[in-house]
Amino acid sequence: MRNLFPLFFLLAASLAAQPPDQIHLAWVEPPSTTLTVVWRTVDTGVPSLVEYRPAGAGAWLRAQGGIRPSGTSGVLHEVTLRSLRPGARYEYRVKGPGESWSAIHQARTAPPPGPASFDVVFLADTGMIGREDGLTTGTKQVIEEVARLDPLLVLLGGDYAYYNTDKRFGTLDNTIDAWFNQVQSIASKSVMMPTYGNHEIYLREGYLPWADRLPTPEGFDNRRYYSFDVGDIHFVSILAADSEYGPIPATAMQWIERDMAGARKAKKGWIVPFLHVAPFSDGSNHPSNLDIRAQLGPLFEKMDVKIALSCHDQSYERTYPLRGVPDAIQTTSTSKSCYSAKDGVTWLKVGPGGKMSNINGKFADFKTNPPPFYTAFRDNTAHHYARLRVSPGAIAVEVFGVQGDGRPPVVQDRFEYNRKGCPNP
Ligand SMILES: [Fe+2]
Ligand SMILES: [Fe+2]
Repeated sequence: MRNLFPLFFLLAASLAAQPPDQIHLAWVEPPSTTLTVVWRTVDTGVPSLVEYRPAGAGAWLRAQGGIRPSGTSGVLHEVTLRSLRPGARYEYRVKGPGESWSAIHQARTAPPPGPASFDVVFLADTGMIGREDGLTTGTKQVIEEVARLDPLLVLLGGDYAYYNTDKRFGTLDNTIDAWFNQVQSIASKSVMMPTYGNHEIYLREGYLPWADRLPTPEGFDNRRYYSFDVGDIHFVSILAADSEYGPIPATAMQWIERDMAGARKAKKGWIVPFLHVAPFSDGSNHPSNLDIRAQLGPLFEKMDVKIALSCHDQSYERTYPLRGVPDAIQTTSTSKSCYSAKDGVTWLKVGPGGKMSNINGKFADFKTNPPPFYTAFRDNTAHHYARLRVSPGAIAVEVFGVQGDGRPPVVQDRFEYNRKGCPNP
């Protein structure tokens, strides 16, 4: 037994010397002038330090933060960089054990408040690369493609690790650690802002093990609902895990309404909500959540929401702009591609972001054929992620389909809302 001690100490020492990992960015404070950097070190004695500088500048500036309580092995560090220039590029590196620092990473602040140009990607239902049941056929390539798109912001739609059916990493926390390493190529340079799905909320996972890793503004109900502004867009993260979790609580609905009314009053150009379950879905695995449709439909119309993002099912569907949800649904346009300020709400269900379904072992089948009258486009032959190309007065949405076999992604669907009107209204 005594002979094993040196081995034990060697192993412990080599683990502690492990370089920083799980590097990811968030916005807790104003996005145009701050960035919050999170990373993990196995060595619990490493100080929470970030060195940063405007891209191309010589001398490093230094910011200190603290430990973010979490279930990771080692410690999660959190440092907020403040007084940054809006719409600017920065380089940064995070502290590792001993004298070491991480590699140098790139980051950007948001443009100043008001109309601006930037890209946002919506991504959900990823799963972990290399599942033994073979269902994550797209995860690796989706991550590579989103990293290549290099958006300013990534909205995460929930269902990340599917721990209940993927135990390769042992504990839930080890699995979450692996998930953050899996997305570091995106998250170290694009700010990631989450909502959560049924897998985080109750399928042998939990809200806190995930939310502890992902800083966000305070919002409501311990950050289950929160909002933030980038450029001229007010983003609202809405927890909607699925029908087993029940409808959105009345107090949360009141918070969402007050929050959106505040954005309207502040004359924000757009309100973009994102949530996990799909209020409009013809998928046989996860059909429309009618409770949540009835809750959010009238509110989104009242608040002049144009684009509502959801996921959960394993296929892509997009409605025409709708009004009269839930009881008198009408399309406000029959165009496939361009909508104006007078049009209603387009409901998107964008998925999966890498993992096919455990229910039917593939992408979701559709329940009805031909599709419902309000469906503008749908596809269940690929993994999907959406890019919002934001410019002053317009948001153009491109939805990419990817097989995961290395063939390039295909833009399957494209439409825009343009406040200046459409070429052929
Ligand atoms: Fe899912
Ligand atoms: Fe889900």
